[in-house]
Amino acid sequence: MTLKTVEWKDNSVIMIDQTKLPNSLEYVTYTDYNQVADAIRTLVIRGAPAIGVSGAFGLALAALQSNAKEKDQLIQDLETAKKILFETRPTAVNLAWGLEKIMKITKDDKTVDEIRTSVIETAKQMAKDDIQINMSIGKNGSELFSENDTIMTHCNAGALATVGYGTALGVIRATKESGKKVKVIATETRPIQQGSRLTAFELKHDGIDVSLIPDTAVGYTMANGLVDGVIVGADRILQTGHVFNKIGTYQVATMAKQHNIPFYVAAPLSTFDLESRPDNVIIEQRKASEVTGIGDKRTAPDGIDVINPAFDMTPPELISGIITENGIAKPPYGESIRKLFEAKK
Ligand code: MRU
Repeated sequence: MTLKTVEWKDNSVIMIDQTKLPNSLEYVTYTDYNQVADAIRTLVIRGAPAIGVSGAFGLALAALQSNAKEKDQLIQDLETAKKILFETRPTAVNLAWGLEKIMKITKDDKTVDEIRTSVIETAKQMAKDDIQINMSIGKNGSELFSENDTIMTHCNAGALATVGYGTALGVIRATKESGKKVKVIATETRPIQQGSRLTAFELKHDGIDVSLIPDTAVGYTMANGLVDGVIVGADRILQTGHVFNKIGTYQVATMAKQHNIPFYVAAPLSTFDLESRPDNVIIEQRKASEVTGIGDKRTAPDGIDVINPAFDMTPPELISGIITENGIAKPPYGESIRKLFEAKK
């Protein structure tokens, strides 16, 4: 069993506090949706699918917190909570997806109590589905890798970025479960080290062979024949196949192209945004202190200007395939992504 990142228990939300990893594995319990919003904002929980489900759980708490006796009042309370949860992080589309899926319930012809129950049950079901979807992504992607391959990954798209099992790391797990021996190279993923703190921790925890490299060694490892394939997750994928993911993904993909190494993206259909164009996607900008220091240690001069985008965009021409629960989309993406959604209907 992989780590369970977020779950609903006794009318509360329990999460692994990822800011404490890898030094200690601690759980936090929340009964107020504002606490869930803070947890998303401060990266106690992070990773697109995990924050999608957390948003839904946040609304489940809001439904319990509301004293509404009338349906209109309950809807208004949920709308207030939705706005606060939505504004926590702008780039991962799964958050909006999770919130909208819950808000749809309020449109049904139901009483206040029925809506409350249905909101909670739907959020719980979304958490269960997430693991199943990741296992399907894993199975579909496991065909892409061969015995003894070394697979590079960036950031953390593992159990810790989802409810469990992971997307990119789910593919690696499924490849291993299919009997193939594989090794992983994890980039440390500056500035806040999701690779070293989370991916290295999670793969070691599960007994998967992993080596850590500084982000600056991506070119070296590829040029020296140490990498057979790359797999990453995504925060938002457009109809055109443009992929938004953790800052640095674009550099890894460019380097993979230079060395003829296949570069794959693994993500559920809830990560697709079929409406936006590349220039309307908001890239989250994070605080300067993430760059001016490492941990608590200051490594840059006082007063330095900083640019700290949390995500970048990888264009479709650098991507060999996008692995989903409904199959693998290959270029040209306009057509292949449309087919994935048709298969969903
Ligand atoms: O800032 P984070 O840690 O939330 O960024 C996470 C990523 O970029 C992941 O690669 C992405 O959300 C996919 S997770 C399955």
